Amino acid sequence: MGRTISLAAVGLLAATASAFPSLNTKRQDNTTEMVSDFAQITPSKDINWVPCYESFLCMYLTVPLDYKVPDVGNTDIAFIKYVTGGNPSAPDILFNPGGPGGSGVGFLKGSGQGLTSILGTEYNFVSFDPRGVNNTGPTLTCATSPEARDLYLATRLKPSAPFPEHWAQSLALGDYCTELNANTTAKYSGTSAVVQDMMHFTELTASTNGQAPEEALINYFGISYGTLLGQTLASMYPDRLGRIILDANVYGARYYTGFDASSVEDGDHAFNFFFSFCYEAGSELCPLAANATCAGDVETRYRALLQTLDDEPVIRKGQPTPGFVTRADLESYAYNAMYEPTAKFGPLAMIAAGLEQGDTSAYDLLAKPPFTNDLLESLLLITAIDNAGNFILKNYTDYLSAITQLQENSFYGWRYYATGNTLIVNHLNILPPESQVFKGFERTNTSTPILFIGTTGDPVTPLSSAFKMSQYFESSKVLTVDAPGHSFTGASSKCAIEAVQAYIGTGTLPEVGIICKTDLLPASYFPKLPAAPQ
Ligand SMILES: *[C@@H]1O[C@H](CO)[C@@H](O)[C@H](O)[C@H]1NC(C)=O
Ligand SMILES: *[C@@H]1O[C@H](CO)[C@@H](O)[C@H](O)[C@H]1NC(C)=O
Ligand SMILES: *[C@@H]1O[C@H](CO)[C@@H](O)[C@H](O)[C@H]1NC(C)=O
Ligand SMILES: *[C@@H]1O[C@H](CO)[C@@H](O)[C@H](O)[C@H]1NC(C)=O
Ligand SMILES: *[C@@H]1O[C@H](CO)[C@@H](O)[C@H](O)[C@H]1NC(C)=O
Ligand SMILES: *[C@@H]1O[C@H](CO)[C@@H](O)[C@H](O)[C@H]1NC(C)=O
Repeated sequence: MGRTISLAAVGLLAATASAFPSLNTKRQDNTTEMVSDFAQITPSKDINWVPCYESFLCMYLTVPLDYKVPDVGNTDIAFIKYVTGGNPSAPDILFNPGGPGGSGVGFLKGSGQGLTSILGTEYNFVSFDPRGVNNTGPTLTCATSPEARDLYLATRLKPSAPFPEHWAQSLALGDYCTELNANTTAKYSGTSAVVQDMMHFTELTASTNGQAPEEALINYFGISYGTLLGQTLASMYPDRLGRIILDANVYGARYYTGFDASSVEDGDHAFNFFFSFCYEAGSELCPLAANATCAGDVETRYRALLQTLDDEPVIRKGQPTPGFVTRADLESYAYNAMYEPTAKFGPLAMIAAGLEQGDTSAYDLLAKPPFTNDLLESLLLITAIDNAGNFILKNYTDYLSAITQLQENSFYGWRYYATGNTLIVNHLNILPPESQVFKGFERTNTSTPILFIGTTGDPVTPLSSAFKMSQYFESSKVLTVDAPGHSFTGASSKCAIEAVQAYIGTGTLPEVGIICKTDLLPASYFPKLPAAPQ
């Protein structure tokens, strides 16, 4: 969901670093033991859960690459299940954590138990690595070897590089990667193929439980890119929806054109939360609040720092290497911080206060690239396949006008977005097969109305996207949560959680116009941090 090359496309939730597990480790034919790696699971065309990772069930489900053309071969999809209430046959709710490229397996392993505090234990939680992600094939790459990929990624441009260079680099990679994938199975990894996999899983599960597969309903919770997956699902199978919760919504109709200038329109509002929470937390917790008499003073001070960095990057004198930190570097870190305010507002304040003093140590310690290389390639290729060669920015002039639109929408985010997300599909022409081309959104009735959720301070999926996409689905409702962050789940809003529980339990939708607040105090966004080493 979530990209800069540090490209946070739509912006991935909980993008944790992890090695890419080898897909060709020899599989053992013993699935009765507790497994700790998908390589230990025998793939099956039927539902076949095995105990894994101490408290989960796992399955490697073999599916056709193209449901309409079985000849082209199969791939195996990694599923994981968390049995919430002791009954493995209770109905499932499926999850996607974002990206594209986010691992559902990694997400559920980390968050399965925590999610019961929001969703209760009526449903079991099921997630999966979608096509082209982590344990699931096909392998998606824009390089002939891991070394070649690392070399390419090491030469990627910083956001401060001139725009013609960003444009040129995206052309070079796009053309190269298109050629490289001319004969690969990468093209079977688009979003509508993943929707078909979800339906296939749901129907197989129904059959296994003695129910009519053609009547089985999908329950689903998607965050960030996961909302695009959910919107696509709802559009393709409107009469097969059970409970559908879409949180941190992508403007799906624009996503499929490859560029959406409105993505960053709530970015500056996220910064408003940062400045006012910093002021209210006080200078003990937020050093930028020292001497401030209002939130505006914090913002003025932060803007002065950006201006100073423009004129004079801060020099790093020693470890890890001599170098410098620019305005664009700080802007990138800061914009990413808006995704996860409880984890990143504090570090951002420390980094900024350090740079004011000409000290890069907090930046060096805390500013890590948000995505691993593996996630990045999945993100790039899945987005491109969904785009199917329809990228609306046709030439450099179009790119410049896109930059102007972004500038109008966000002072703090435009450069980050213009040099990251904006060009990821440029010249990347990988067309999905006929049966996996998404036909677009039309207003439709759904078997159960959808619950859309958005926060008011989301840097990459603005609240307006939830309202725009809600228009396509009759009777759907939007729940607004007045808080910063990408997804409402970090906002600890009792009001929002109750609304979700009412929907999960009885299908009741929130009243139009309800705005939930975060229950966190400003100080909770600035926990005491260990001091950066001098
Ligand atoms: C397979 O699983 C059974 C039952 O847990 C166990 O007794 C056996 O040792 C396992 N075999 C191998 C090769 O791991
Ligand atoms: C990929 O899946 C493995 C489990 O096989 C998991 O441990 C890991 O966290 C996942 N990777 C990511 C990036 O989530
Ligand atoms: C792809 O396959 C076609 C037809 O077999 C061949 O002409 C072309 O060279 C191949 N391209 C690549 C990049 O391997
Ligand atoms: C705050 O004000 C005091 C007194 O004027 C001054 O010494 C100090 O440098 C100021 N601190 C900051 C961070 O501006
Ligand atoms: C760029 O592409 C647009 C269509 O997207 C077209 O209208 C315009 O004439 C092109 N500009 C140049 C300089 O080629
Ligand atoms: C949804 O169903 C209602 C009632 O049958 C109907 O009046 C309405 O036109 C339908 N909407 C769409 C978009 O088909």
